[in-house]
Amino acid sequence: MTRPQHNETVDAAVENCWRDFPALDQQVNDHRLAYLDSAASAQQPQSVIAAVAEYQRLDHANVHRGVHTLSHRATDAYERARDKIQGFINASSRSEIVLTSGTTESINLVAQSYGRAKFGPRDKILITHLEHHSNIVPWQLVCEQTGAELVVVPIDERGQLVMEAFDEQLTDEVSFLAIGHVSNALGTINPIREMIKKAKALDIPVLVDGAQGIPHMPIDVQELDCDFYAFSGHKMFGPTGVGVLYGREALLDAMPPWKGGGDMILEVSFAGTVFNELPYKFEAGTPHISGAIGLGAAIDYLQSIGLEHIARYEQRLLDYMTRELGKIDGIKLFGTAENKASVQSFLVDDIHPHDLGTILDHQGVAIRTGHHCAMPVMEFFCIPGTARASLALYNTMEDIDQLVDAIDKAKRIFA
Ligand SMILES: Cc1ncc(COP(=O)(O)O)c(C=O)c1O
Repeated sequence: MTRPQHNETVDAAVENCWRDFPALDQQVNDHRLAYLDSAASAQQPQSVIAAVAEYQRLDHANVHRGVHTLSHRATDAYERARDKIQGFINASSRSEIVLTSGTTESINLVAQSYGRAKFGPRDKILITHLEHHSNIVPWQLVCEQTGAELVVVPIDERGQLVMEAFDEQLTDEVSFLAIGHVSNALGTINPIREMIKKAKALDIPVLVDGAQGIPHMPIDVQELDCDFYAFSGHKMFGPTGVGVLYGREALLDAMPPWKGGGDMILEVSFAGTVFNELPYKFEAGTPHISGAIGLGAAIDYLQSIGLEHIARYEQRLLDYMTRELGKIDGIKLFGTAENKASVQSFLVDDIHPHDLGTILDHQGVAIRTGHHCAMPVMEFFCIPGTARASLALYNTMEDIDQLVDAIDKAKRIFA
């Protein structure tokens, strides 16, 4: 696999990691692939693909309930993945790691289990204008069910939260704060430490939607002091259909299960059911075993490079991408916050983003177009959608050059 050289120096720990991702080693529409859609779903390194294949090939069986060797092996591998996740985010106990199908399910779990049982007409749930639909709709549903009110922290023209408004909105009438770590549409890194600290001072529980935070920076849930942190395997180089809800043990322990079925019980009779201990109380049914094993391998991979190296390298890529895109005549950048990670949204002249995305694809450049499941953000800017280039550890300066050249070509086609 050969790639052109770029003059800028890069971080040695990350420099060549694109070689580890087989999907990047291909031509798309007769061009080298420049994959700039990792915020939607990231590619998987060979080690993740191999770990899943190895499990499928030799170890597959159902977990937790078999006496035979394969079931033991599957259970060991599945539970080892939980331990890796615990270490990765520095949770204080493996009981705090609930394996889910992804961020969406993790947030719904909290809304339905914690929220539905606790909220009433006098409660306010505070979210922000930057949220992905996954951190809006579950709260709207629980508001309808309980009579609670949804309150939204506004944003400014750069796509940053208006912190003066947050300070005013965060009163003792707020029963829950649910905030995104990093905006998937604009790349804004929210000041979650400060927000959590302020919420904790009022005893308000906090959920962080970490779907776009976890692939790009080190996360320590104890240091953050959040109550819940939700994320997805497929955005951090693992498989789809698997994700995590970190929850503070005391809170999870007091929450009722939200799904019933096998594995989440200790004893069932027609007179009633005794639920299983944490975290199994929240893991009804056969889990995504291979997905969890793949996620564990993705964590090994990320740790072998180091999240600090990744964050530093990606920041350099993002700075370069922002600078180069900014030089294009007729481009408008959306999301220009001071603190950003890995994403740039834009529109070029009056080219429809879908048309732009299609022409870029013809040149091997994969970007996202549309509302990015953040319709309120689009509404704020009075646009139906944007084109969005998003970065991951395996991107290079050449990918960005290819993006810029492809946009230039699109401009010429539409001129
Ligand atoms: C910020 C954010 N939250 C939540 C989600 C939902 O993730 P999933 O579809 O993996 O559940 C996404 C996916 O794009 C996201 O970017």
